[in-house]
Amino acid sequence: MDFSLSEEQLMIRQTARDYAQRELIKDAIERDETSRFPTEHIRKLASFGFMGMLVDPAYGGSGLDTISYVMAIEELSKIDASIATIISVNNSLVCHGLEQFGTEEQKQKYLVPLAKGDKIGAFLLSEPGAGSDAASQMTMAKDHGDHFIINGVKSWITNASSATFYLLFAQTDVKQRDKGICAFIVEKDTDGITLGPHENKMGMRSSDTHSVNLNDVIVPRENMLGAIGDGFKMAMQILESGRIGIAAQALGIAGGAHEIALNYAQERKTFGTEIINHQAIAFKLADMAAAIETARLLCFKAAWLKDNNKPFGTASAMAKLVASDTAMKVTTEAVQILGGYGYVKEYHVERLMRDAKLTQIYEGTSEIQRLILARSMKKKSGDIFI
Ligand code: CAA
Repeated sequence: MDFSLSEEQLMIRQTARDYAQRELIKDAIERDETSRFPTEHIRKLASFGFMGMLVDPAYGGSGLDTISYVMAIEELSKIDASIATIISVNNSLVCHGLEQFGTEEQKQKYLVPLAKGDKIGAFLLSEPGAGSDAASQMTMAKDHGDHFIINGVKSWITNASSATFYLLFAQTDVKQRDKGICAFIVEKDTDGITLGPHENKMGMRSSDTHSVNLNDVIVPRENMLGAIGDGFKMAMQILESGRIGIAAQALGIAGGAHEIALNYAQERKTFGTEIINHQAIAFKLADMAAAIETARLLCFKAAWLKDNNKPFGTASAMAKLVASDTAMKVTTEAVQILGGYGYVKEYHVERLMRDAKLTQIYEGTSEIQRLILARSMKKKSGDIFI
């Protein structure tokens, strides 16, 4: 097995690392405190090609592989995971969905500006009563021939106010459950769309999250992705790719916390020596490093499978499960190593700990990832070694 990285992959990782460590760090605490959307950083990262990293250059993207994407998201998340959330939703949910399932016309009109970073996208699947159980969609799309009229509410939508284009899922026939769900591209400024208040979140505070209300929203038929009833499978396939991005984000959060704790442990002295010389601290740091490397290998495996056009849904679920649990454990230990300093904002680890929690919840909770793994083991159809 070849674990070496190409010149291009190393260059992408270095670009993300430099930008995060030089620029994102400066105002990460302020953005977290004020929940300010990082417009200036998103513009800059778009100029590096980070808003459409995986998209074919023919559609305005950077045409990079998923390993490069994982490393870029990891590096940004070490410093500010909110920024990685905004980028990840745009890249691996919205751009990926449009590139996979859009018509040539839809790609030219919507994918190109999203991949270039001129516009931002959001993914509207969850509802107040349909999060983990995504097939229970209650947002209704009524077919009127050349257009649909959509009514309903979508919840927890990342990029809801900053996005120009929404990739939205709605039901055409409740009785048909998953077989009635359709996907639509909806422009945010369409009449009938209003946003709920900005969600005052525990972590990931500078990515904007709102509910989206749809009241008699008219969507032209040419904005439907695929055919009636294709929406659920599309959403599931898109989430397989999205979960690699969230796994990479969790990996970065864990790595960022480990770095802070390691530096601190080499400077802070107790009982006449640096605390890294106490086995209680050294072993914590060793366990954290081993867990991070395990999560990284799972992320890389899922990315490699995707890049090589092999099934990767089970691998991406496992990568997300392990990486997000690792992020939670590692950030908690990092706060413990820093003690009182870990509990205040200046040292960043408390923010990383709050950010880590969301990676166990969005794009499928840890319980949903376990469900996906259990089902694929039962069917013996997964892409994992079991
Ligand atoms: N690829 C293709 N098809 C798939 C699929 C996949 N990954 N997963 C399921 N399907 C197909 C099945 O084969 C089945 O098709 P057939 O009937 O033709 O065989 C159909 O879809 C229904 O599948 P299930 O019976 O397995 O569906 P289910 O209702 O039991 O749900 C689930 C499965 C895995 C639990 C799914 O509901 C799920 O992933 N839930 C979590 C949703 C989620 O991740 N939400 C996050 C929203 S995005 C977000 O977080 C917001 C943000 O802004 C970042």
